[in-house]
Amino acid sequence: MSTLISNIGSLVTNDPALGEGPLGLLADAAVVVDGDRVAWVGPGPAAPAADEAVDAGGRALLPGFVDSHAHLVFAGDRTAEFNARMSGLAYGAGGIRTTVAATRAASDAELNANLTRYLAEMLRQGTTTVEVKSGYGLSTADEARSLRIAAGHTEETTYLGAHVVAPEYADDPAGYVELVTGEMLAACAPYARWVDVFCERGAFDGDQARAVLTAGLAQGLQPRVHANQLGHGPGVQLAVELGAASADHCTHLTDADVAALAGSTTVATLLPGAEFSTRAPYPDARRLLDAGAAVALSTDCNPGSSFTSSMPFCVAVAVREMGMTPDEAVHAATAGGALALRRTDVGRIAPGARADLHLLDAPSHVHLAYRPGVPLTAAVWQGGVRKV
Ligand code: NIG
Ligand code: FE
Repeated sequence: MSTLISNIGSLVTNDPALGEGPLGLLADAAVVVDGDRVAWVGPGPAAPAADEAVDAGGRALLPGFVDSHAHLVFAGDRTAEFNARMSGLAYGAGGIRTTVAATRAASDAELNANLTRYLAEMLRQGTTTVEVKSGYGLSTADEARSLRIAAGHTEETTYLGAHVVAPEYADDPAGYVELVTGEMLAACAPYARWVDVFCERGAFDGDQARAVLTAGLAQGLQPRVHANQLGHGPGVQLAVELGAASADHCTHLTDADVAALAGSTTVATLLPGAEFSTRAPYPDARRLLDAGAAVALSTDCNPGSSFTSSMPFCVAVAVREMGMTPDEAVHAATAGGALALRRTDVGRIAPGARADLHLLDAPSHVHLAYRPGVPLTAAVWQGGVRKV
């Protein structure tokens, strides 16, 4: 079954060989989808025939967003904590334990229903690939079931047993690291592609983070790191040293951190929802881009520091507050996310790529930043199937 999407006013391919600039922009374009893949991309008049046709009405088509950082297996919310913060209280990692208690008390069905709901929310806003972390279980059984539930929805599952020290180990952090790198890892590895650690004061220090990541690597999990969110620290350097796919947050960076990222294959994943929702200064995307680092944008969707599922929101904030151009922000939210997940089949619209497509009710991708807060998603295809 093939579909011709014609009359695309502006097409973001993210393939410089197919169009203009880093976004590979094409005007008056067409795309042919065959099964779950893109079969053809080019100028409208040259398009081959297909089984069915969709008229894009001169609007913009871009790759589905790739949200490479989200914490979606949890129960409850933290409205009271958010309210207190907006009255002046500071954000700290301690709030994570509130969600751990609610998550442990929830049934599998409840956790699965919550995850399903947030993924549907994301799809309605154009997100077609989502990474999902554990990290609100913090026991062997609760981390393993979090990942088992996540694996039912996405290939991009991340073991984050090292989110904070579990309450049972408050007086024995070394014992908790032993659990996370031993029994818990063994139970979680079958359901996970990635291993992550919250490397931060109040969570895990550089030595503990290294132990977690190298243990994960030994079990075949690839590293990614929560790094330099709340202050300076060793997270970014550790991520680069271990060849992590991504260093996430990157809010507090030294010149050496920026240089290390720029000279590496580690993507700097920026999460503006977290700074928005914790009233913290935003990361400096301009500084990273000017140094030559690869940048991704993601929601960090979680009930504590960033309860947004909206990539369009992140794009708009990144443009307004982080020194990114609309082109750079859209690239970071699509191709950047794909790079942060080391995926070549998503984040671009080119022959052979997965047919994950996002049609906007707007003539240009720039409207994602130009019209903040406006629901612009007109249609979404995921693996060639029309979902929205
Ligand atoms: O990415 N930084 C650590 N983890 C989350 C926050 C989780 C929470 O507060 O529940 C984050 O911001
Ligand atoms: Fe996070």
